[in-house]
Amino acid sequence: MSIAEKMAGFVASSSWIRKMFEEGARLKSIHGSDNVYDFSLGNPCIPPPPAFRRYLKSIVENEAPGVHAYMPNTGYAHVRKSVAEFITREQGAKITENDVIMTCGAAGGLNIILKAIVNPGDEIITPAPYFVEYGFYADNHGGQLVPVKTRSDFDIDIEAIERAIGEKTAAVLINSPNNPTGRVYPEKTLGALGDLLREKSRTIGRTIYLLSDEPYRKITYDGIAVPSVFKYYSNSFIATSHSKDLSIPGERIGYVAVNPEADEKEMLLQAMALANRILGFVNAPAIMQRVVGGLQGEHVDISEYARKRDILCNGLADFGFRFVPPDGAFYLFPQSPVPDEIEFVKALQEERILAVPGSGFGTPGYFRLSFCVEDRTITDALPGFERAFKRFK
Ligand SMILES: Cc1ncc(COP(=O)(O)O)c(C=O)c1O
Repeated sequence: MSIAEKMAGFVASSSWIRKMFEEGARLKSIHGSDNVYDFSLGNPCIPPPPAFRRYLKSIVENEAPGVHAYMPNTGYAHVRKSVAEFITREQGAKITENDVIMTCGAAGGLNIILKAIVNPGDEIITPAPYFVEYGFYADNHGGQLVPVKTRSDFDIDIEAIERAIGEKTAAVLINSPNNPTGRVYPEKTLGALGDLLREKSRTIGRTIYLLSDEPYRKITYDGIAVPSVFKYYSNSFIATSHSKDLSIPGERIGYVAVNPEADEKEMLLQAMALANRILGFVNAPAIMQRVVGGLQGEHVDISEYARKRDILCNGLADFGFRFVPPDGAFYLFPQSPVPDEIEFVKALQEERILAVPGSGFGTPGYFRLSFCVEDRTITDALPGFERAFKRFK
């Protein structure tokens, strides 16, 4: 075999994603893309805020010497400063530019954190359902992802996390607002998680880190705010990006912030800066750093996503679907009306509706709908959702 065995295995185990993609392409080629209702992708459909284009233009037009040169692996100091000031205002923790590293998206950020803290054989615990790529990220650094089921309302099950923690635990990785459930973990849960990690770190005799993956932080509904992990646990990191809040996932820009109170903070920062370089990112894209440095606090019009959420949730609730309404992000994770959700996802495909099976997020029996689509896609798909549901009731 000419490719690495592990990668061959990964490709094979993710083949359902490819199958879904191929089925979507097949349906679109037969019926036209307007007649296929694609809820499978988490690709933002709302344009970036107007300030993005204005800022990008002015940066390109005012090009100073050396603007395309190598830079510190952590990113431009003035950009990190503007990010740090924003986090300080938003989350109340005193962050300086030295606590921030600019990264290639949240994915790049999570990988530099894991590179800095994971030894071979270490475990990274994550509440399930979870973003499928976490398993690959953990493996990139010789770690093993340990999914732990959430409660029925998708909040973290603290007792279950407690049972999963052991001598190999390097970190707990949470994602709020969550992909795929839309759940925002409340203050009380983060408080309990912080207490647990302090206690376990002490009794086991190693620092268990808390990693908070937050690319959807600014996309919340009904006035819900995302609590800061920095307030509840000192050995913590935030990894985030502007992929979703500015609708620019193709530009690969995000950052990591380390809790200013973390033990061994300086070592961690040095390790992550080096990781940025040697994982091949070197540094986050220069132009995009400058752009987002001037756009801290800006975001897309969240009311657009709120409206889409309401159209979808009200429609599905009327037909009898059961789900926890999302607090944030742009995903809905309903229960399948049959235990084998693949069967239901296939029934949806017969209605030209594309959804992702919950097994892809470590949680069979559910399916994920991304509602970052045009309103028309949702309203036109509703009769198909009803017909598919009725087949199983
Ligand atoms: C939960 C979660 N984490 C991380 C990422 C990766 O984000 P980025 O594209 O900013 O690297 C995504 C992308 O969809 C995501 O949903």
